[in-house]
Amino acid sequence: MSVSLRPTLGAVPEGAAFRVSALTHGLGDREWEREWEREWDREWDREWAREWARRPVAEILRSTVPVASRPQWLRFGAHSDRCPAGPQPPTEGVFDMEILRDRVAVVTGGASGIGRAMARRFAAEGMHLVIADINAERLAESAAELRSTGREVTEVVLDVSRAEDIAMLADTAFDRYGDVAILCNNAGVTKRARSWELTLDDWTWVLGVDLWSVIHGVRTFVPRMLTQGAPAHIVNTASVTGLMPLIDMASYCSAKSGVVSLSECLAIELAEAGAEIGVSVLAPGFIDTNIGESGAHRPAVFAESAPANRPRSTTGLEATMTADDVAGVVLNAVQQNRFWILTHQQYRSSLVERAEGIGTDARPVSFRVV
Ligand SMILES: NC(=O)c1ccc[n+]([C@@H]2O[C@H](COP(=O)([O-])OP(=O)(O)OC[C@H]3O[C@@H](n4cnc5c(N)ncnc54)[C@H](O)[C@@H]3O)[C@@H](O)[C@H]2O)c1
Repeated sequence: MSVSLRPTLGAVPEGAAFRVSALTHGLGDREWEREWEREWDREWDREWAREWARRPVAEILRSTVPVASRPQWLRFGAHSDRCPAGPQPPTEGVFDMEILRDRVAVVTGGASGIGRAMARRFAAEGMHLVIADINAERLAESAAELRSTGREVTEVVLDVSRAEDIAMLADTAFDRYGDVAILCNNAGVTKRARSWELTLDDWTWVLGVDLWSVIHGVRTFVPRMLTQGAPAHIVNTASVTGLMPLIDMASYCSAKSGVVSLSECLAIELAEAGAEIGVSVLAPGFIDTNIGESGAHRPAVFAESAPANRPRSTTGLEATMTADDVAGVVLNAVQQNRFWILTHQQYRSSLVERAEGIGTDARPVSFRVV
């Protein structure tokens, strides 16, 4: 693999800059060193450059380049290819926790599972919370738990698929706090049936909750975040099935791949605009949550539902991470302004294989969870 990046970073020693760009392009440590040897042909104090190049990427970014003067690829593209496969303690990163303290995080789907865990994690970092969910009872439980940490908590009962509900959520957050530091577009549902058997109601419900909610979140929150005068970060929850097909989950996969595409476009556009708004796409593998009960709060208007041809089974599949583990990984990614958040590193080779098959004779292969 060849990397031809000769960034002009001013204050950043070129060895360090090269390493950051190599990681940004998904190269591991040995690979970047090989590229370094191959590519670097200038007269240059190699020892000094090497010393810098070995420092943690976050340290390079923090200590040498002020956020405002970072070039776009560095401000918004710096991430490590070593996604954590398990629980990770939060590390220091480019998004200093002091920027988050006493500011607000808005989390949809905050009553349960990953959303609740993210809210819990942000509260532990000294943030206030606005949590939103369709399940009023569980939302109240979640709020009570979060309040016990001493943080301010606002609950909003809503349906994320409705633009007017997301507008009301944004009004609630901005009216109370003036700005939003973190937005997690996270609420989601699943429906399992063959793609041709899914009813129009199934498709409308799943796309509404899983994709339109994120569209509403972006359209409603981003214009206000752009003018709030303080940095922010958006985490859109997709799924590894947004990157790889899963049999009997066509509506879910379609919605989640839409979330991935939307997030990629958003990240590029915000970078182009020079905005201090980071974007991450959370693409979890299997996490043990209440998502199997999605149908419980399906609005009556979407009554016509295909029979699930098989119940969701987790046979042979181990939930190697808890929702709390995921929340730690998310916080870490926000701090480091990392775009991709994969919870299960073991899926990465399949994702790469799929990407490399595009444009060849390769056939789609289902990512199987049963
Ligand atoms: N659990 C997994 O294995 C897994 C894997 C990949 C992605 N995800 C995604 O993670 C996100 C969180 O899911 P989870 O696993 O924590 O499940 P969960 O069911 O525990 O939490 C989802 C929350 O979303 C809420 N919700 C559903 N419909 C809503 C609506 N119309 N308006 C507002 N809130 C609504 C639910 O009431 C629930 O509290 C979802 O987007 C899901 O697709 C989960």
